[in-house]
Amino acid sequence: MATIDSAAPAIGPHTRSVIETFGRYVVPNYRRFPVCLVRGEGSRVWDAEGAEYLDLFPGWGCNLLGHCPAPVVRAVQEQVAKLIHVPNSWYIEPQGEWARLLSERSFGGQAFFCNSGTEANEAAIKLVRLRTNGERHKIITFQGGFHGRTMGSLSATAQPKYHEGLGPMVAGFQYAPHGDLVAVERLIDDKTGGILVEPILGEGGVVPAPPGFLEGLRKIADDRDLLLVFDEVQCGCGRTGEWFAHQRFGVVPDVMTLAKSLCAGIAAIRMIEDEGLLEHVTRAAELFRTRLESLKERCPGVRAVRVLGMMIGVELAFEGAPVVQAALERRLLVNCTQGNVMRLLPAMNITPAEVEEGCDRLAAAILDVAGRQ
Ligand SMILES: Cc1ncc(COP(=O)(O)O)c(C=O)c1O
Repeated sequence: MATIDSAAPAIGPHTRSVIETFGRYVVPNYRRFPVCLVRGEGSRVWDAEGAEYLDLFPGWGCNLLGHCPAPVVRAVQEQVAKLIHVPNSWYIEPQGEWARLLSERSFGGQAFFCNSGTEANEAAIKLVRLRTNGERHKIITFQGGFHGRTMGSLSATAQPKYHEGLGPMVAGFQYAPHGDLVAVERLIDDKTGGILVEPILGEGGVVPAPPGFLEGLRKIADDRDLLLVFDEVQCGCGRTGEWFAHQRFGVVPDVMTLAKSLCAGIAAIRMIEDEGLLEHVTRAAELFRTRLESLKERCPGVRAVRVLGMMIGVELAFEGAPVVQAALERRLLVNCTQGNVMRLLPAMNITPAEVEEGCDRLAAAILDVAGRQ
């Protein structure tokens, strides 16, 4: 068991002053913990008071290679010193090269570059509409999915809590229960142009597509001439131990949207290959699975453990928010989604010792809160 004091992080004068500035000048739409991070390296971050944390949720999944991976930092520094921004009216070598690397590792085809996951999904939505000149504009998406916060992607997100106060939504999205092929068939009409789905629900609780579901969608899309779009913003780019999550399922989409960890570009792809990180993910995932399954046996409050490479969900029989707080007190950063699923998106290069340490701290936090139920 890791020896670590469990106490709320200290709020020193620097942190207090940063929090005050936010209070005055930053819109308070996100809930923040009273911790001011100043530095990160691998799976560790440090706060302004000098406390060190183990981060099992680095950058909400954007820091796939941990904090400040040296080859990526170097590549970014070199590029911004040469050309910091180039509009789409000019050619630059790295953009073409990056598209080539992605194409060769997925299913061929071409890349459209934009700035975020939600924009990638907007582009996919436009593609569905453009393909039939707007004649078949309807898209089927799934309950529990999350596709982003701009209006099109938000409308595609079949979770009412994200729509509250923002209506009306963009027309043309129809929602089916996740995994239900019969419901999909029923929703299709002569205005349907596409299907948009996460191969593994991320925000929806780290839930993989049930057996046969993606294959079924592929068949429906082929039979009814629909565009099949996989949202791999969270599960793509090596996170699950394959380059792309759909490769785990053996089902190829027509379009795939990527973001988060993708933004580290060519340097990230090369680092994953040079350091054998796809194979490493599979080993680290087994370690997480063994440790978390053993926790499940000891703690009836743990209902289910889902490990898909470095995409991990621990479903609890009680609210997870107090566990996030109890973990923070043990200097461990984790996330809770859907109210009761502890979500971990660890860095691909997490070490076995860090996996052990993270599992010790998470187990202590869960047992602590379970004991209070
Ligand atoms: C599956 C999925 N799609 C889309 C998005 C939106 O991506 P972004 O925050 O880069 O706009 C997210 C973000 O968490 C996501 O998990």
